[in-house]
Amino acid sequence: MMKIAPSLLSCDFTELRQEVRRLEAAGVDYLHFDVMDGRFVPNISFGLPILEQLREMTNLTIDSHLMIEEPERYIEAFAEAGSDIITVHVEATRHLHRVIQQIKQTGKKAGVTLNPGTCIEQLMPVLQDVDLVLVMTVNPGFGGQSFIGSMVDKIQFLADYRMQHQLNFEIEVDGGVNEHTAQLCRKAGADVLVAGSYFFKHEDYKTPTSMLRGE
Ligand code: DX5
Ligand code: ZN
Repeated sequence: MMKIAPSLLSCDFTELRQEVRRLEAAGVDYLHFDVMDGRFVPNISFGLPILEQLREMTNLTIDSHLMIEEPERYIEAFAEAGSDIITVHVEATRHLHRVIQQIKQTGKKAGVTLNPGTCIEQLMPVLQDVDLVLVMTVNPGFGGQSFIGSMVDKIQFLADYRMQHQLNFEIEVDGGVNEHTAQLCRKAGADVLVAGSYFFKHEDYKTPTSMLRGE
């Protein structure tokens, strides 16, 4: 079944505990935690203290998406604060393979991701080493942007490559995912859908969870 990862960027932070309870009750799979440093992306979000509090509140898988320069500086900190999956951008580090090793040494799952303007080939040297590949379908930095349709080819490429090479990383998609674009992602071979603005505009979180799964 398609996994659903609501992006907390769009949740109500004044009621975080209640939001988490409602997400658990809706049966979501991951909590997507978007960390922005104001350098790698032109926006600042939240970081370690919030992550620590979130970890205290739930046993759901916390999926940290690090939109930060030189993520190697913070891998141990994000592992200790409670991430289950740590995803880094290929554009943000000069040593992608080393960062992946660093994540694995913490015992957490390692993910890699790429901006819409970056070729998927950039990830080929590490595909055998990762647990997750995140395909960005918007330029990172903000919620509420439109899905870039041409990125579906990257999802398809990854699904084909994974099959041909008998690998088992998850394919996650992030940005502009709604009930319509989710269908394109599912068809192309995605396993995990991140959704922020579409998800949290609903009153009842079971509705977007099943809509995104195509139920
Ligand atoms: C964008 C973030 C996304 C964002 C998605 O930089 O990585 O996770 O919250 O928001 P929507 O679903 O509104 O495009
Ligand atoms: Zn994200």
